[in-house]
Amino acid sequence: MRTHKNNELRITDVNKKVTLVGWVHKIRNLGGLIFIDLRDRYGITQITCKPENQNYEVLEQVKSEYVIKVEGIVEERESKNPNLDTGDIEVSVERVEILSKAKLPPLIIADKTDALEEVRMKYRYLDLRRPVMQKNIITRHEIVKAVREYLENLEFVEIETPVFGRSTPEGARDYLVPARLHPGKFYALPQSPQIYKQLLMISGFERYYQIVKCFRDEAFRADRQMEFTQIDLEMSFVDEDDIYKLVEGMMANVFKKVLNIDVKTPFRRLKFEEAMDRFGTDKPDTRFGLELINLSTIVKDINFQVFTNALDSGGIVKAINVKNSADKYSRKKIDEFTESIKKFNAKGLAWAKFDGNNFSGGVAKFLEEVKDKLIDVLNLEANDLILIVADEENIVNQSLAYLRNFLGRDLNLIPENTYDLLWITDWPSFEYDEEEKRYIAAHHPFTSPKDDSKDKILTEPEKCYSKCYDLVLNGYELGSGSIRIHDQELQANMFKAIGLTEEEIKEKFGFFVDALQYGTPPHGGIALGLDRLAMILTNSLSIRDVIAFPKSANAIDPMTEAPSVVDEKQLKELKIKIDI
Ligand code: AMO
Ligand code: AMP
Repeated sequence: MRTHKNNELRITDVNKKVTLVGWVHKIRNLGGLIFIDLRDRYGITQITCKPENQNYEVLEQVKSEYVIKVEGIVEERESKNPNLDTGDIEVSVERVEILSKAKLPPLIIADKTDALEEVRMKYRYLDLRRPVMQKNIITRHEIVKAVREYLENLEFVEIETPVFGRSTPEGARDYLVPARLHPGKFYALPQSPQIYKQLLMISGFERYYQIVKCFRDEAFRADRQMEFTQIDLEMSFVDEDDIYKLVEGMMANVFKKVLNIDVKTPFRRLKFEEAMDRFGTDKPDTRFGLELINLSTIVKDINFQVFTNALDSGGIVKAINVKNSADKYSRKKIDEFTESIKKFNAKGLAWAKFDGNNFSGGVAKFLEEVKDKLIDVLNLEANDLILIVADEENIVNQSLAYLRNFLGRDLNLIPENTYDLLWITDWPSFEYDEEEKRYIAAHHPFTSPKDDSKDKILTEPEKCYSKCYDLVLNGYELGSGSIRIHDQELQANMFKAIGLTEEEIKEKFGFFVDALQYGTPPHGGIALGLDRLAMILTNSLSIRDVIAFPKSANAIDPMTEAPSVVDEKQLKELKIKIDI
């Protein structure tokens, strides 16, 4: 229908006769002269029409978001717009056709919007017309293209795995689908294709990948969706270094193709324990400093019960030196910090300011006796603010990691357009689950322990480390994977270590343990969160901004109004009674 896209025409096209199509982005009627910004996926072209033109009356009826077709002549603009690709020209109308009328849209089709997210999601098809959303969705596509291109060059085979299956143990709640043909039984939607991809290694495909939907019923966060997409892959005859190299090459291709950025490989590696120690989290944002410093040994003998009590009951004391910021944060602001870490069950936040010689404010008087040591380990200088938390280790880490991220943003310490990719390695195999009073797999129970941990998994689980790795980008967990267990006996012991009985192992994973007996190659893999990657690469604040049709924070789709009630007849067929 058209000769050109709306981002194409330049000064060199002047006098050409062209046909354009698109949506009416903006209309201005300047004393008889009509200007229209015509928009398509590619950009905007200005259309003009004078009152004496025979199309003038048609154009006068046109409103925002009408779809029109315009034939006309390209002319040089009097007042050029350097912000627009086509800003040097305009198209003077010869013929206009209205292809489709539009109601007044409930949200403005522009990058900046003050529409509530509820409205944006209810009219998602209009929200997706906003250029920034189009750019996000297209960038997501570019990422997938770069991933496929890279993996296919390396002989990876894309294989689809079932959506209706058995529950897989990734640790979230399953979404269940009632089986009409088997009343009382349910399929579980996959939390990941983990077991299938390992079976494909046993089948001998050697290199598998899939861009795959996964489903998890878990607590909401800004970087989570109930259905999300993984870049999932698995390889045979590899160790950790092979996977690192592969993923580094893949990410380098993505950054090059999508953002034209050369990322530095190999990526930095940080052991899990060092990450927890220095940043208080297993997904540190390493684009800025403000590292956590352990003060436990320095303050253990001072006369301040808050610290000594925490230490006596097995806790720790850690601090952040907020450099050159004592004058930036008032007492009131620090009280807000204290309030903000209560969600991690922190009992308080001790603080003091340093002027180059002395402490003041907060807990200054208690710190006096260890002043020299503190100056040394915290590298204290004039105008520094010290924030200290004393508590159980995980409360201290969570609180200070949270404050660190907050302060990094608040103090503008995070450089823009930097992408800091790093591996977190050497994970403990198990975590102790206080609620269930048992060890659970820190990654998943198919993860191989390190060679020197293999014989300890039943006897000293707390001392076991695994061949597991996370890929972290700018403070987000982007991916996670491991070298897998390929030995049947070790796999059975692993299941036992997380508290499964022989019967449960047989019932839940019998088919898988069986499969391991028929010649299993050593193998390993990883899954990257595509939505998170797209979110970071498009600078989006929410994962919903890179998903065409996402669910809201409380797991509903305001547009289709899913989930919905169903007919009595459907429930009858499924032999399901509602009990609420
Ligand atoms: P894991 O459970 O760590 O590993 O998931 C891999 C990656 O998927 C992304 N992700 C999510 N993204 C959006 N919303 C969610 N609810 C969500 N949950 C996870 C994260 C995460 O790093 N089978 C293993 C991988 C393997 O061992 O190969 C797995 O699924 O970016
Ligand atoms: P208190 O003695 O309870 O008045 O506390 C004195 C100071 O220590 C206050 O600034 C509290 O916020 C702080 N504080 C209390 N508990 C802790 C804790 N567990 N870790 C760090 N600071 C704390």
